[in-house]
Amino acid sequence: MTIDIFYFSGTGNCLITAKKIAENTGGRLKSIAVAVRDVKVETDAQKIVIVFPVYAWGPPVVVRRFARKINDVKNKKVYVVTTFGGFAGATEDFIKKDIEKRGGEITAGLGVRMPGNCITLYGAWPEEKQKKFFERFEERIKVVSDYIAQGKEGLHEKSNFLMNFLFSGLIYKGFLMGLPGMDKKFFATEKCTGCGVCRKICPVENIELLGGKPQWMGSCEQCMACIQWCPEEAIQHGKKTVKRKRYRYPEITLDDMLEQSGNKGG
Ligand SMILES: Cc1cc2nc3c(=O)[nH]c(=O)nc-3n(C[C@H](O)[C@H](O)[C@H](O)COP(=O)(O)O)c2cc1C
Repeated sequence: MTIDIFYFSGTGNCLITAKKIAENTGGRLKSIAVAVRDVKVETDAQKIVIVFPVYAWGPPVVVRRFARKINDVKNKKVYVVTTFGGFAGATEDFIKKDIEKRGGEITAGLGVRMPGNCITLYGAWPEEKQKKFFERFEERIKVVSDYIAQGKEGLHEKSNFLMNFLFSGLIYKGFLMGLPGMDKKFFATEKCTGCGVCRKICPVENIELLGGKPQWMGSCEQCMACIQWCPEEAIQHGKKTVKRKRYRYPEITLDDMLEQSGNKGG
């Protein structure tokens, strides 16, 4: 059975998750950011896995757009795998709705806890704490991969009703309402060399270089790739990120991230 593993990632947690699932199941690794640029997402795989981070207890908007474009989804098994720093709420339910609109259904939804990367709220976690999460990840990813490889069905890992209502209902709605203006707070300091990594790494092509400096164009997903991967730490978001430590999953390289955005070697 052919398996496609589609991923979206800002700092590598989902990319390493997707890579390991691909390794363990013999699946093909595919970028959501690239796939979503086509009118339809065509795949001959009988099983697909969608790996993405939780944002404000819901999915990134681009992942929902992607889910609504998958062709012939009703004839595929669809696994949702989320990564998150705390808890996922009812994130899976949003993708479920999108897949159901196309006649498909979610076979199972699994979660993987990873270090949080939301630098607009907090800096990178202490290294000791990260190490513990990475150790647990090694175990967890085997369980998740086996579940998918064996074609198991029916597990939907969610928080309880009240938490889902509060976080995935109310807070996610607020996040979506604020999203269009959220990139207004990004700016490049005098440390910026105009190298263009931010433009190339942005998975949704939201950054342009004007006069050698990045400008955010209002279609940001809040993935944090630009601020977390800037080689000079020249990108800030308001005043609070100046002192905050950057986070990236250690084994994921800039080249891996540029592959996601379709800009490797470009
Ligand atoms: C804008 C934003 C919102 C986030 N919201 C949540 C959240 O609601 N719950 C949670 O547990 N983690 C949240 N996180 C943490 C990420 O889901 C987590 O670190 C994820 O593993 C990042 O994956 P990535 O490295 O592939 O981008 C958020 C991160 C960002 C950037």
